[in-house]
Amino acid sequence: MFRAERIATAVGVELDPAFCDAADDLWADSGLQIVRGDFARVVAGADRPAPPNFVVANPPYVRHHHLTREDKERLQRLAFKMTGVEVNGLAGLYVYFVLLATAWMKDDGIAAWLIPSEFMDVNYGTALKRFLTDRVTLVRVHRFDPNEVQFDDALVSSVVLVFRKTPPPRGHAVEFSFGGTIADPGALDRVSIDCLNESRKWTVHPRHAGNDRQTSGNGDGPAIGDFFRIQRGIATGCNKFFILDRDDAQRRGLPGRYLRPILPSPRYLKTTVIERADDGYPQLDGQLCVIDCDLPEPLVKTRFPALWDYLRTADAVGIRDGYLVGKRIPWYKQEQREPAPFLCTYMGRGSDDKRPFRFIWNRSSAICSNLYLMLYPRRALAGLLREDAERGAEIHELLGRITGHELRGEGRVYGGGLNKIEPRELGRISASSLVERFPELAESLDRHDAPTLFPVQ
Ligand SMILES: C[S@@+](CC[C@H](N)C(=O)[O-])C[C@H]1O[C@@H](n2cnc3c(N)ncnc32)[C@H](O)[C@@H]1O
Repeated sequence: MFRAERIATAVGVELDPAFCDAADDLWADSGLQIVRGDFARVVAGADRPAPPNFVVANPPYVRHHHLTREDKERLQRLAFKMTGVEVNGLAGLYVYFVLLATAWMKDDGIAAWLIPSEFMDVNYGTALKRFLTDRVTLVRVHRFDPNEVQFDDALVSSVVLVFRKTPPPRGHAVEFSFGGTIADPGALDRVSIDCLNESRKWTVHPRHAGNDRQTSGNGDGPAIGDFFRIQRGIATGCNKFFILDRDDAQRRGLPGRYLRPILPSPRYLKTTVIERADDGYPQLDGQLCVIDCDLPEPLVKTRFPALWDYLRTADAVGIRDGYLVGKRIPWYKQEQREPAPFLCTYMGRGSDDKRPFRFIWNRSSAICSNLYLMLYPRRALAGLLREDAERGAEIHELLGRITGHELRGEGRVYGGGLNKIEPRELGRISASSLVERFPELAESLDRHDAPTLFPVQ
């Protein structure tokens, strides 16, 4: 990038002594000075190296839940002190690195960062995005195609940011590219700062057929969330313990009233329509049930000794020490969910036209684990289905027409092309095909355009 004679001094900061030694072996002859230490402390220290006019960094991708509370608070205070930015507690370490290093570097200096692309789409990234549009001149944002994995050991998809530390000129536009290499990207667009400030998700740029993340609408039309209340399935705290084969539960004599039918994980569910057996269980080979009981322990012990015997085996395997289980009262009572007639799998792969998630029509009384999102019809859609449950087939078919692009555009993507979608993200996908098929749905929205007036079912 720069010829050696243009580099007066260069400093590298690294925490791990083995990497310091390796860097020293490789670069000491070229004049690189290695500083061993925690970058966040080094840049905040009184004896920090002179501010650079060029920063190139591939910072650690440590996620927020691996940071201790003390470290997080220290980093938040420091980022606020050095940049005035309040970093959301869900941000990964790289967000702090970008802010701190930029505060440290010289005005008008240039920076190039290789970081996870997650901040481009999620709430915790908002403050960093504001910083990048208001405080520096963002030159280039190149996102690697997660399906062409760049870094085998990185579980996240990555982006390169190039910016200059100076506020952007009026009317500035940023180059957004996707796929291929930085020098030869698969797609490239110029996006104005105004447009970026209005984009909820930055990964939709460049708006190009090759981009895996186009959102379906501009947020104005009817959306899935207008017609469905969407909730994750239950987190049992330990599926292996709480979910049993129904046959096994019967053999053990567990009381049926404290067992609820539950679907197998999406991996083992080969069908997208689940029929109901006479007793409400799904018509599937290998039916499963989840233990869900609200009786206090002494009552279980006296009234349901077989259940008690089973529950007692939890101690030996440490299940009660788990976070979720530990805070439940009683610890074997599950989150309450009604069966939902439609489900969407929560994570999956798929590029181009292939959908990463599947919609399922659940005619049984089974609930499901948090590997699914549960879609409960609401408003006029609930009424349509009450009138004629067989319309479920058509609704299911229309949900199945949501394209892979739309699903990926609202969800989020991880390295290797694994996609996930949260309830709110699914709720934002356009529902125009539902409304085209059932125009009365649109009328129900028009009549009540203040969504908060609707009771959530
Ligand atoms: C994604 S790797 C990049 C390594 C190298 N810069 C490269 O590009 O190949 C991140 C590096 O940051 C180092 N690291 C982690 N926490 C650090 C900290 N607080 N201060 C400085 N370096 C840190 C890790 O040891 C690791 O070598």
